[in-house]
Amino acid sequence: MRNDILKVLLSENEIKEIIKRLGKEITKDYQGKDLVVVGLLKGCNPFMADLIRQIDLMLEVDYLAVSSYDGTRTTGDVKIRLDLNQSVEGRDVLIAEDIVDTGTTITTIKRLLLHRGAKSVKIVTLLDKPAGRLMECNPEYIGTSVPNEFVVGYGLDYNEKYRNLPYVGVLKPAAYEK
Ligand code: IMP
Ligand code: MG
Repeated sequence: MRNDILKVLLSENEIKEIIKRLGKEITKDYQGKDLVVVGLLKGCNPFMADLIRQIDLMLEVDYLAVSSYDGTRTTGDVKIRLDLNQSVEGRDVLIAEDIVDTGTTITTIKRLLLHRGAKSVKIVTLLDKPAGRLMECNPEYIGTSVPNEFVVGYGLDYNEKYRNLPYVGVLKPAAYEK
């Protein structure tokens, strides 16, 4: 698996430092609020687990599963595969995402949760790929920006593989031909 990685973009230690910083910012901004952190499965999994432990507040977690990808291409059509367990009405929602690329997923989910009566909806993403945007969308909390390359690891997949890499890296082109 590791032989398929062309270069490491974010090491385990860099990820750790980024998440500490995000946790501090979120802890400061959500004092006295009714915070629900909503993770977008499956990519949010390691990020969400590490992030919530850096947020020093009472909070609840919930998950949404959406899909819009086929291999390395977005289909633009966001489908809800698993819905939230609880109502977000009147609550302060923070959506946790692995990467914002075209902005389609996050824009659709944000609209949906506001429509369901959330008091506020903000976005925290580990990675931002601003060059990929098709929809204007500005996540409130960004770990770091990445170039317009397909990345895997730390939750991010290529055809469901590589999510368990402890770092974020770029795949070798040969890995796509497997
Ligand atoms: P968007 O809707 O185009 O912003 O895409 C968001 C979703 O696409 C993310 O949640 C990822 O699952 C997936 N995605 C976008 N870029 C990448 C990438 O470089 N590697 C792996 N998944 C990606
Ligand atoms: Mg995803």
